[in-house]
Amino acid sequence: MTLLPPAGNPLRDPRDRRLPRVPPPCALVVFGATGDLSRKKLIPAVYDLANRGLLPPGFVLVGFARRDWGDGEFEHMAREAAKRGARTEWREEVWHRVAEGTKFLPGSFDDDAAFDKLAQLLKDLDLTHGTGGNAAFYLSIPPSAFPTVLRQMARTGMADNHVTKSWRRVVVEKPFGHDLQSAIELNRLVDEVFTAKDVFRIDHYLGKETVQNLLALRFANELFEPIWNSNHIDSVQVTMAEDVGISGRAAFYEQTGAARDVLQNHLLQLLALTAMDEPVNFDAESLRTEKVKVLGAVQLPKDLRHYAVRGQYDQGWLAGERVRAYRAEEGVAPDSRTETFAAVRFEVDTRRWAGVPFYLRTGKRLPRRVTEIAVIFKKAPHLPFAQTDTEELGNNQLVVRVQPDEGLTLRFGSKVPGSTMEVRDVAMDFLYGEAFTENSPEAYERLLLDVLLGDASLFPANEEVEQSWRVIDPIEQLWASLPDGPELYRAGEWGPKGGFEMLARDGRAWRRP
Ligand code: BG6
Repeated sequence: MTLLPPAGNPLRDPRDRRLPRVPPPCALVVFGATGDLSRKKLIPAVYDLANRGLLPPGFVLVGFARRDWGDGEFEHMAREAAKRGARTEWREEVWHRVAEGTKFLPGSFDDDAAFDKLAQLLKDLDLTHGTGGNAAFYLSIPPSAFPTVLRQMARTGMADNHVTKSWRRVVVEKPFGHDLQSAIELNRLVDEVFTAKDVFRIDHYLGKETVQNLLALRFANELFEPIWNSNHIDSVQVTMAEDVGISGRAAFYEQTGAARDVLQNHLLQLLALTAMDEPVNFDAESLRTEKVKVLGAVQLPKDLRHYAVRGQYDQGWLAGERVRAYRAEEGVAPDSRTETFAAVRFEVDTRRWAGVPFYLRTGKRLPRRVTEIAVIFKKAPHLPFAQTDTEELGNNQLVVRVQPDEGLTLRFGSKVPGSTMEVRDVAMDFLYGEAFTENSPEAYERLLLDVLLGDASLFPANEEVEQSWRVIDPIEQLWASLPDGPELYRAGEWGPKGGFEMLARDGRAWRRP
């Protein structure tokens, strides 16, 4: 593994745009610092950034959580978490530097005294660690706690750039609201406390390399954009499949379900990047403008009952192991109606996409973990070959594999070697792992760095979040009104029958990823 020189290295030429920039001195305050997300993603990302020389010398990690811990106990937990989850190689001297700037503040969210202490700590850190008073607050906490924490920040003035004379930013984890109304209220509250440009709503799918590559593919090449429209494209299928179940998150998942958990955010963002027009440049405002436009044009089919399918996994077999039904998971109600699978047909009401369905599906306990965007082209209008010679010829497809085996596949017809003119589908593959020697940063690593740099390009704006809820709300309302719960599917299979019937009704079939 090649590591970039550490921060401040004179070999780093600041004018070289190919090298990632190093943020200014600052503190990263993690609310819910002892939780799952913090241990699995945030702390390892901090270590990886430090290891790549991308954290400034005046960087401090402040953990805030209910546990009655001191700095030492938090540092110990963080070290273990970083060691377990780091992407880059472990170097004691790198952790040593991070550990020197690691602090912990015990407190609950309604504890005024703890927040007063935090406000004071942030002032002191400028004197002790030279943070310049800058701070990013990461809300790695249940959405129900957002308002309390935001009000505490407002009360203490720690969110106000003018009061602190330094930058103060907030990172909000999804799900951002529970429906359109709650998202609007939450947006209003966040915007009251922080300046709009200082609010970073995380959708970690936007931090994935392949997702960003979709933009490079579309807008850096001449090959695809001219045919990226309803004249040539038949349909688009976006699949986010997971083999895991709910991984002990019953309390969260029972309240959320697949549509709110990932369809509202990750999958609609993938749709937006696939369908949007070219932004004038790649700054946050231009990208968001195009995404908001396309999300605003997303419509649900009139016949929603047939085109919004939900399922719930039953017991079954996965990778040779017996797995239990969703309703038998710890903490799940035995008669739960929460969906663990959702498939919906969307339309995008623009000239470019008129008549092209976008089928989005996601599910837990499906046969394997895979996320892909498949652009299915129309068949050639005329084939000058005998029909029997082209029987195995499908539609051309361009498949963006978001994960795993990140890359692209292009499927097209090719002549079978021999004396007859037989044409059959072949696949041409581009694999990230083979084409580049660098390995990709983790999504959270990239996004954390962007927060500290103040670059909001990869963070959805208010309007995007609200437009997404606008199309999810009617689906949730329909499902809540139906007498029956979700259709069961056996764990290890590709979802309920209704999911297949939805495409069959349109004369199409899901791709097998
Ligand atoms: C999260 C969802 O946003 O994304 C989880 O809450 C899901 O339910 C996860 O498992 C999947 O992320 P990734 O990066 O592993 O595809």
